[in-house]
Amino acid sequence: MIRAVLLCFFLVAGVFGTQTQQQNPSATDQKAKQADSSGQKPSATPGQSAPGQQGAQPQQGARSSEAVRQMIRGFLAIGAPPDTEAEKRGQATFVQTCGFCHGTNATGGAQGPNLVRSTLVLHDQGSGKEIGPVIHDGRLTKGMPAFANFTDAQIHDIAQFLLGRTQAAANRMEYSIQNIVTGDPKTGEAYFQVHCATCHSATGDLAHIAAKYEPVTLEGRFLYPGNMNRFGMGPPPDSRAEKHVTVTVPPSTTLPSGVKYSGVLAHIDDFSVGLRDSSGVYRSWTYDDAKGIQVQIQDPLEQHLKLLHEYSDADMHNILAYLETLK
Ligand code: HEC
Ligand code: HEC
Repeated sequence: MIRAVLLCFFLVAGVFGTQTQQQNPSATDQKAKQADSSGQKPSATPGQSAPGQQGAQPQQGARSSEAVRQMIRGFLAIGAPPDTEAEKRGQATFVQTCGFCHGTNATGGAQGPNLVRSTLVLHDQGSGKEIGPVIHDGRLTKGMPAFANFTDAQIHDIAQFLLGRTQAAANRMEYSIQNIVTGDPKTGEAYFQVHCATCHSATGDLAHIAAKYEPVTLEGRFLYPGNMNRFGMGPPPDSRAEKHVTVTVPPSTTLPSGVKYSGVLAHIDDFSVGLRDSSGVYRSWTYDDAKGIQVQIQDPLEQHLKLLHEYSDADMHNILAYLETLK
């Protein structure tokens, strides 16, 4: 039961990249433990994740001479050009799905690294073999969500697009990607009234939202509104986005009646949970010490996460087009 709650949470945390650890006194310790357990990270699709994880992890941050060789090879030995049709399809998917983190040109954004300079992408050479596992599994603890449903064909298209980008960079040809605002604002407004207006208002909290963000950032904000920006730039966490938690510690010999605490979730990982109560007191528990502990999390952004699975491509374009009218 607890496990299930935690697994659900981690999926959420993966998408929203909660930055709650900072408030935990023993954050460094926890992070070290988390790193040790990275092999058992929960994933959206256990069936698909295992091989991918293995493939993706060793590349991460590799600065070995092999990685450097790959990079040089990638930049100098410009291989066969990508299949233009696949590249076009890949671009469309990339701009909409990945662009607000990695930049529409894949050269990096506030929330994701430059992929044109990535050794992993260079090594992929348009095949999808290296990129595929990262797309399927994400890097949940680092702010990259999993896209478990991507097909091999979609991954191949994205790989071809990224191949084109690395080649363009190597050729020093810059090309910029067209405006991503292609939807219909009226249809977007109708969607907004039905799905968003319960929590938001175009003249209230979202007034002038389009003046605040570039289109690509704005798209990121409505798809992943949590403060998942691990690079420390971008908007501060909004108190409306804070997760709340109730921790129930079962009766024990020292605590015959058990206890229940509620507050703002301050920290959670595979080993412990911490909260800050209404008077600002921080409390934390390790699951080992508090056997049978129950953790219930209420995430105000849960609805956003649900919507993420409901939008069609057209919905996303239309919503963005509508939000763009809120200058
Ligand atoms: C919510 C932001 C976000 C989205 C959306 C996102 N990524 Fe990422 N991505 C990241 C972050 C952050 C990292 C760096 C993770 C790390 O440090 O290991 C990353 C890493 C990667 C890497 C590995 C780069 C390397 O050198 O190790 C690839 C490849 C990648 N992303 C491709 C994609 C693709 C393709 C998509 C769209 C299907 C996508 N990403 C969507 C945030 C995102
Ligand atoms: C159940 C309530 C709820 C629903 C439904 C909902 N949101 Fe949100 N939304 C939130 C909360 C909570 C936040 C985080 C607080 C914040 O950043 O303003 C948020 C944040 C946002 C942000 C970021 C605002 C900013 O200033 O960065 C945008 C944009 C957004 N939502 C758009 C939408 C759109 C578009 C829809 C419908 C498709 C939608 N939301 C549906 C609750 C909701």
